[in-house]
Amino acid sequence: MTPDLFRHQAEKLRVEINRLNALYRDGHPEISDQQFDTLLKELQDLEREYPELQSPDSPTLRVGGEPLKEFRRVKHIAPMLSLEKKESPEELELFEKEVRRKIPNFKPEYIVEPKIDGVSISVHYVDGVMTLGVTRGDGEAGDEITANLKTIPDIPLKLDFDGKPPRLLEIRGEAYMIEADRIAMNEVIRARGEKTFANTRNATAGSLKQLDPKIVATRRLHAVFYSLGAMDGISFASHEEEFETFAKLGIPTPKLWFKVESIAAAESKSRELKEREDELPYEIDGSVIKINDNETCRKLGLKTNVPAYAVAYKRPDWFNEATTKLKNIIVQVGRTGVLAPVAEVETVFLDGTNISRMTLHNADEIKRKDIRIGDTVVIKRAGRVIPAVVRVVDDQRTGHEKIFHMPTKCPSCGGPVFQRKLSGGENEVALRCENEECPDQMARWIEYFSSRGALNIEGVGEIVAEALVKGGLAKSPFDLFALKLEQLATLNLGTPEEPRVLGEKTGQKILAALEAARTAPLGKWLYALGIPSVGDSSAYALAAAHADIEAIAHSEKLARLVELAKLRDEKKATNPRSRANKGKMTAELESRFSEVSKKLDALEPAVANDALGGEIGPSVAKDVLGFFASPRGKQILHALKANGLKPAGSPQIAATVFDSSSPFAGKTVVITGTMQKYSREEAQAELRKRGAKVTDSVSKNTDFVICGAEAGSKLAKAQKLGVAILDEAEFLRRL
Ligand code: IVH
Repeated sequence: MTPDLFRHQAEKLRVEINRLNALYRDGHPEISDQQFDTLLKELQDLEREYPELQSPDSPTLRVGGEPLKEFRRVKHIAPMLSLEKKESPEELELFEKEVRRKIPNFKPEYIVEPKIDGVSISVHYVDGVMTLGVTRGDGEAGDEITANLKTIPDIPLKLDFDGKPPRLLEIRGEAYMIEADRIAMNEVIRARGEKTFANTRNATAGSLKQLDPKIVATRRLHAVFYSLGAMDGISFASHEEEFETFAKLGIPTPKLWFKVESIAAAESKSRELKEREDELPYEIDGSVIKINDNETCRKLGLKTNVPAYAVAYKRPDWFNEATTKLKNIIVQVGRTGVLAPVAEVETVFLDGTNISRMTLHNADEIKRKDIRIGDTVVIKRAGRVIPAVVRVVDDQRTGHEKIFHMPTKCPSCGGPVFQRKLSGGENEVALRCENEECPDQMARWIEYFSSRGALNIEGVGEIVAEALVKGGLAKSPFDLFALKLEQLATLNLGTPEEPRVLGEKTGQKILAALEAARTAPLGKWLYALGIPSVGDSSAYALAAAHADIEAIAHSEKLARLVELAKLRDEKKATNPRSRANKGKMTAELESRFSEVSKKLDALEPAVANDALGGEIGPSVAKDVLGFFASPRGKQILHALKANGLKPAGSPQIAATVFDSSSPFAGKTVVITGTMQKYSREEAQAELRKRGAKVTDSVSKNTDFVICGAEAGSKLAKAQKLGVAILDEAEFLRRL
C-alpha cells in the first residue's frame, strides 16, 4: 500500500466510525463495543504512524489525548452574561412594559425554552471545525477545556455547512449528565475510594475539571446549545432561525421550545415546560423567555450587566419552593459519627407538611450557597421528599447575619473531630466523631437497629432511643434485651422539669417486639448491625450464602472474593503486554505475572461456586470482614453470644432452582414502599426464587420497580428514568 491508500483507508474508517457512533448515540448500536474498539484502534494506529493523516474532526479525538498540567485561561470575545430572574406573571408584565417603553411599536414574539441546570460552556468553530472549548468562568474569562469537550459525543467536531463555512461561529450552551449515569459513575468512583458527586451539576462540573481527557471520556457527558457568541461570516434574523440552523448542522438544541405571541402565552408555556420536565434528559431550573427578533434584541441591548431582551422565569410555587427565615444552625451526630449541620427555620407549610428543620449536609454546601444564620432562604423538597435549602434571598440581607463555622469538638461527647483521607489523598468533606461511646451515635444506632427495615422494634424511635441513652439504660442496641418493664414504663421522655413517662402499655409492646427480634431472619440482623456498605439487599445476599453471623465473620467465601480482586489487580499491574509496563519488563515481573495468572486460574472456579451473587462485590466483602475483625465487630459478636442471640439463615432459599419461565427471570428489580401481602423480605425471596436480581437503588439498568404504599424517592427516580413500575396487585399477578 502507498500512503495514498492509507489516506483513503483512514477516511473510510472515520466515516464508518462516525456512522456507528451516531447509531450508538440513538440507542441502536450495530456492533459490539469490542468490535467498535477494534475499528477505532485501527484508525488510531494509522494516525499515529502517519501524523499527516490526523484530521481535526477525527473520532479518535473523542477518546481523549494527553493529560494537561493546568488549564489555560481564555478571555471570552463577548462576555458570557447571566439573566435577570422573574418569579411571577406580574413581573413578566413589567418586563414587557419596559420593552415597550424603549420600542413603542414592539410586536410581541417570544421563544420559551428550558433553563437547563448544567454547566455553561462555549465552543468555537473556525471554518466549520471545532477549535476551542471554554468554561463560563467568571463570565469574562474561562478555562480552556477543548480536549475535554471533544470527548462529548453530542458536540460535533465539524459542522456540515451546505456552502462555505463561516470564518467563526461560537455557540453557547450547557454540559450536563443524566441522573442514572451519575449514580453508575458514583458506584465506580466510590469503589476506588474517590469523592462521589451529590448531584448531576456537581458531577458535570467535576468531570469537566479533570485534567486528563481520557477520564472525561468515560464520564458520559452530554451537551445542549441555546445561544451564540462571536460570529464572523454568518448572521441570524431570529432566535428561531438559530435553533433551526443548529438542528441542521447537527448541534443539539433543547427538545422542547415554543414560539408565542404574548407574554401571557409565554407564562403558560413555561408552565407546560415544567409539567413536561420528564421528557427532558436534564434538570430544569425554570424557563428562559427570549425576544425572538434579533434586530429588536440588538436595539434593546444590555441593562447594566444583563440582557434587556431575555429573562429567566421561575415560579417558586411550581417548583414547590417556599421562603422562610433561618433561625439557627445546629450540628447533629449521625449513626456513623458524621457531623451534620442542620438548619432550624421558622415553620413553613410546604407540599402538605410543616417543615421546621432540614439538613445542610456539610460545611462545603453551606459555603457554596453562602448560607448564614438569620438569612431568608428559599427551600424545597428535593425529589418531592427531603426538605433542602435551595438558595439565599440576597436582597433580604440586613448585614446582621452570622457566618456559621463547624465545631472543632463533637457537640455530643466533646471529643475531637476528624476528616478522613480519601484514597486519592484528598480529605473527605465530612467531619467525624470517632468516639464509639458518643451518646448521639449510640442513640442513632439504637434507632436504626429498631427501624422497620431492620428489626422493627415498634415503639423505639428517635425520642425513646435518646432517652434510653441519656438515662444510662443503653449503650448499644444489645442492652435493649436486658431491659425490664419497670425501667421502660418509667422512662422519662420529657425534661426533668416537665417529665412525661413512656408508660406500661408501650413498654410491653417494646418488650414483645424485642422478643420477636430474637428469631428475626439473619438478613434483618445483618442490616441492623450497621456494617459499612451493607444495605438491605447485600444483607440478604450475605444471609443466603451463610449459616449464621459467625460464619459470615469468618467467611472463606468472602475472603476468596477479596483475594480474587487483589490477584486481578496484580495481574493487570504485572502484565507484560500492558502499555504501562512498556520498556520496563524485568524477569522478576514476568515470573510474578505467570505466578499470579496460575493462582487466578485456580481461584476463579471456586469463587464462581461460592455463588455470592451480584450484590456482593470485593469491596463489600472487604468491608464485612474488616468490620468483624475490628474491635467494634468483635464486641458485637460477643454481645450476641452474651445475650443468647443466634440469628440463623435460611439456606433453602439460596438452593431453590430458578423458575426461568417467570417474567422476573434474569430481571433487575427494586422494591420500595410497604406491601400488604408480603414483608419486604418475603417479596425479595419470591423474586429471587424466580431468578430476579433484587437491588437497593434504581438506575437505568433496573427492569422493574415494585411499589407498595408510601413509596418515596425510589418511585420518583423510576418515573424520571422511565423504568417500568408495578403496583402490588400487578406484582402479585405477574408472580
Ligand atoms: S441564554 C444572553 N438560555 O442560565 C443570555 N441561558 O442566568 C445568555 N442557561 O449563564 C443565556 N439554560 O448558563 C440561556 N436556555 C437557556 C439557558 C441558559 C440555562 C444558563 C446560562 C446562563 C444562565 C443565565
